[in-house]
This record gives sequence, structure tokens and C-alpha cells, in this order.
Amino acid sequence: MSQGQGAQAAKVPDASTAPSVISALRTLCQGQCRKRLASPALSVAEKRQAHWKGEVALPDTASFLVDSHGRRFEYLRLSVTEACNFRCTYCLPNGYLKPAGLPQALTAGEIRNLVAGFARMGFWKVRLTGGEPTTRNDIVELVETVARTPGIRKVGLTTNGYRLRKIARELRMAGLSALNISIDSLDAGRFEAITGQPRLSEVLEGLEAALSAGIPSIKVNAVLLRDQNERDLEGFLEFVRERPVSVRFIELMRTGQNEQYFRRHHLSAGAIQFLLARSGWQPLEKDPGAGPALEYARPGYRGRIGVIAPYSKDFCESCNRLRVSSQGGIRLCLFGERDFSLRPLLQDASQLEELVQTVHHLIVRKAESHLLQEGNYGNTWNLSAIGG
Ligand code: 5AD
Ligand code: SF4
Repeated sequence: MSQGQGAQAAKVPDASTAPSVISALRTLCQGQCRKRLASPALSVAEKRQAHWKGEVALPDTASFLVDSHGRRFEYLRLSVTEACNFRCTYCLPNGYLKPAGLPQALTAGEIRNLVAGFARMGFWKVRLTGGEPTTRNDIVELVETVARTPGIRKVGLTTNGYRLRKIARELRMAGLSALNISIDSLDAGRFEAITGQPRLSEVLEGLEAALSAGIPSIKVNAVLLRDQNERDLEGFLEFVRERPVSVRFIELMRTGQNEQYFRRHHLSAGAIQFLLARSGWQPLEKDPGAGPALEYARPGYRGRIGVIAPYSKDFCESCNRLRVSSQGGIRLCLFGERDFSLRPLLQDASQLEELVQTVHHLIVRKAESHLLQEGNYGNTWNLSAIGG
């Protein structure tokens, strides 16, 4: 079922109705989403079932966010701008053009209130994405704001890396704990062909600057592209031999904008997994709270290889994240049908409880899985608006 079909097309909040719609949603979920899962005596599966049947009632003060499929959410991915200065062929082949009339992105104050609300719901990890988040002049301040929010233990940033050389140290001092840099090829010509920017060496210098600054977790994202970067696999494996970096291959996802491109360049993650297994890379066991990447290690290599396969059968089972757009719209799934605006609830710190209540009532609408396999990508025109 798509999210748009949930709960008999009940009225959902948008910018003008968000505060007033809470009671309507409360009626729909009948308090199920307030059931808490704290008993250590139950297995995860039992808790999921008990939660759904409403058998486990926890104290009202607990505010963990659990959906109707028993998944707990603790990781917020927040886009701080739609704008990007790269033109990746699978994402923004013609570059970013600001839509006419698009309001300003969330301000630092709105972001502070948003993150405080999610921290109240047990979220402890926040990733700032874009677009390209470092196109915002206040990106270091934003990292610091998030890092200082009580309850937030990990602040990540996903970037194309173009400003890293200059700001890696400042980001680290502001409290950045995890960095994902998009590098689709280690060959300068192919890098430029994919991103529209002749900046591979700058980006690599940025990565080295991040390592020297001591940012604790550094990952490289490379989207797998048939006929474009298949030949880079060997280079990437070599890249992690000496560097404590994780290179993650991401299977290309279909969006509204890339239909033909997808047909031409989609490469199954299975092909890479096969090659990894053949060359001595061993899959690591997943931590319970880990995201969707499957990680591989190999003796003699300081770094790791990860594979993100959104088309795999169980991809959504471990979903632990929610997304918020640069306009303050909450997206229950990357490939969901629509956003629900939280922006009216971010205007003042005193709105925190209302924000928490609203998200609790929205989460029951989260679908069990995306429908990418059936070619349904929701309203995701490209990923630049909401981050990957
Ligand atoms: N499929 C897979 N990954 C994508 N990204 C952007 N668009 C797509 C897509 N269609 C990746 C970027 C970046 C991360 C934010 O998302 O390369 O690494
Ligand atoms: Fe920009 Fe990232 Fe999209 Fe590339 S993938 S155009 S860096 S938002």
C-alpha cells in the first residue's frame, strides 16, 4: 500500500493545518502509537508484535518513535538546502535551478527547534544533507547547533566535498562526527563526466583534510553506473587499503527524472557483491541499529567496502530513519508520496510538545516498504531535494 492510500485518505497536515489536525490523526491511530516497548524480557520480534497488538504500555514520559511495523526511529536526515553546484548525471544533469517562489530554506533557529523535538523522541543521530549542504554559509554553525542539542550524540554531513579542504577542521571543531563524501570515480575524466565538475583532486584533498582533522567516521559514496564507473572498482579497493575509510557502492535508484538514464546505467548491487566475495572480502555481521549498508572487510585493508542495495528484498526492514526537507517537510519514506510540513511547529521553542505529538501521529502512516521494485518512486523527482 502506498502512503497516499493510508487511513482512508484522511486529511493530513500541510503548512496551514498542521497544528489543528493532531486530534484528527489521534482518532485514527487510537493511541496505538503511544504504546512503548521497554520490557527487556521480550525479544525484538515479540516487542514488535506486542507493540502492534497494544499489549505493552510504557510510561507516558517515554517518547520513542515506533511505527506500526515495529521499527524504531532514531536517525534524522535533514536536508538544509535543495541547491547544489554539481550536475551529477543521475541527479541534476542540467544543474540546480531554483523553482520560482520557493521559500527560503529552514533557518538556523527553525533547525534548532526541529532537532530539539526529534531529540525528545529519542533521536540521537542527525545527518545534514542537501542538495549540497556546504553551499550554505552557515553550515559550520548548523553543525554546532545540532551537536549541542541535548541527546544528540552523532552529527553527520553528506557532501560532494568541494569545500572540505577549507572547512574540514572547522566542521570537526563544531562537533561533526561522521562525514559522507560523494566520489563516483577516482579517474579525473570520469569524475568530471559524471559530476560536470573538474574537481576530483580538490575533493580528494578535502577527504585528506577530513582525515587529518580527525573526523571519526569517513565514508565515500559511489553510485554504481553501468558503462561509467564499473572500471573503478579495483581503484576503490586499493583506495581503502591504506585509508581508514569506508567506500560504499550505492545501487542507482529510479527517480521521476532519470527514467531513460536508469534503464541505460542501472547496475545491480549483486554484481559487485559477487566480485567482492570472489576477491576475498568478507561480509560483516550487522549491528542491530545499523542502517541498510552491508559491510565487507578484508585482512590487510584499513578501510571497508559497503554495498547499499535499495532493490533488495529486505531493504526496508532495518529502516531507522526519517527525512525532513529543507522546507521543513517530513518525508516518511525516501520514496513516499508527499511531505507533511512541520515548519509551522518550528517557530518557537515552546512548540516542542506539539511537534513531538504531531510526529507521533504521523508515524503510523509510514508504509512497510517502498515500491521501487514495482517502478513506483513516489514523488521523488530527484534526490537533490531530500538528500540520499
Ligand atoms: N540513486 C542512488 N544514489 C543517488 N544519489 C543521488 N541520486 C541518487 C540516485 N538516483 C546519491 C549521491 C550521494 C547521496 C546523497 O545520494 O551520489 O552520494
Ligand atoms: Fe549535487 Fe549530490 Fe545531486 Fe550530485 S548527487 S548533483 S552532488 S545533490
